[in-house]
Amino acid sequence: MALGIVERPAHVTPDKVVDFDVWAPPGGTEDIHAAWEALHAAPPVAWTPHNGGHWIVTRTDPMLEVYEDYTRFSSRVLLVPKEVGESFDMAPTTYDPPQNRPFRKVMQDAFAPKVVKGYEAKIRAIVSGLIDAFKHDGHCQFREQFAEPMPIILLMELMDLPMADVPLFKHWAEQITRQLGEMTVQEAVDAFYIYLGPIVAERMGGGGEDLISRIANADMGGRPITHDEALKTVSQVLQAGVDTVAQAATFAFVALEKYPEVRRTLAANPGRIPDFIEEMLRRYPLVMNVREIIQDTELGGAVLKAGEMIVMPNCLAGTDDTKNERPLEFDMDRKSRAHLSFGAGAHRCVGAPLARLELQVIFEEWFRRIPEFKRAAGEKVVYQAGVTPHAGEFRLEWDPAIVS
Ligand code: HEM
Repeated sequence: MALGIVERPAHVTPDKVVDFDVWAPPGGTEDIHAAWEALHAAPPVAWTPHNGGHWIVTRTDPMLEVYEDYTRFSSRVLLVPKEVGESFDMAPTTYDPPQNRPFRKVMQDAFAPKVVKGYEAKIRAIVSGLIDAFKHDGHCQFREQFAEPMPIILLMELMDLPMADVPLFKHWAEQITRQLGEMTVQEAVDAFYIYLGPIVAERMGGGGEDLISRIANADMGGRPITHDEALKTVSQVLQAGVDTVAQAATFAFVALEKYPEVRRTLAANPGRIPDFIEEMLRRYPLVMNVREIIQDTELGGAVLKAGEMIVMPNCLAGTDDTKNERPLEFDMDRKSRAHLSFGAGAHRCVGAPLARLELQVIFEEWFRRIPEFKRAAGEKVVYQAGVTPHAGEFRLEWDPAIVS
């Protein structure tokens, strides 16, 4: 990907400058979260010359200010460098209020907690099927055999799309969230649209119950959704739901290796799984969000100019020591937690109830069958940065005699 390094503009004071590439944080392949946490030593709103030059918010309060004020911080461009972000136009993520509202209503209806609860049996069947296929082997390639297929199989089922095409969506989604360089963001977005365009068209006006049909026949506050709007919305749901849960599950199993006492607690007491998920969301969040500054303004002591870009690494909110005590400690017994794992404001994740349910079922079904497991000796996890960072493949092992 293009790594444009630019000169510091005059309005950026030298004390705000950090040498930090959000697509390749220093030390990130070793420990992606530690690499980001180094920015807590920087000002609350810092500036980096990488990726065309942009701001990075390192503390919760200014992050919330950005999320909540779309009159100064627009979602029009959601990636850095800005020129790359211009080609990502899915909906409603790139629309500011009020334009985004009818889209959000459609998605909030589709992912409301009571609707999502209705997907539980399907999720449980997918998770159980995947684990049952390898549990007697005594080992698995965690990402390939479990974490990656799980959420995408679910979305393909909910959208009534052919399972054979799972690798296509996975590939396109990764090109956007990690910019691997095999396709440009524009090519990946186009690939979604070329594939889904005829399917959305075919389901418009039909009586289907699947998620694409529901979006393609949605009411947009008194008028039908257009083909273009439905296509951008369906693509956004796939884009947002494919990678995030897979990464959350992978980071969770890496954490279980790091904290064996937590693994033992969950195996003995599955009632603690919700606390585990919430602490994971606080301690090891995934997503980095971006906004375009559309008004000259000040934030956290910095002077920001219209047209500049600002990045919010959500992980820096969960580990902000002004919001959480002992923030780097993994503690399922916390009385309270502050985090921005699902963002905030007009675009807060609509898939959060589904994500939480998927994770809940993953841990319940895994611990029910395989209570004891460890990473294979010598297997090192290599991380990759991105909008959603990636913990690389590893092999998990267990005694096949203990599985049930
Ligand atoms: C642990 C898993 C997940 C995390 C950490 C996560 C995180 C986020 C974040 C931070 C945003 C805000 C983006 C912004 O402000 O620009 C977002 C938006 C969104 N997420 Fe999630 N997400 C997860 C799972 C899901 C799932 C499973 C789905 C659906 C299948 C989903 C669908 C969406 C959609 C459609 C949006 C755009 C909402 C809008 O623009 O109004 N997410 N997600």
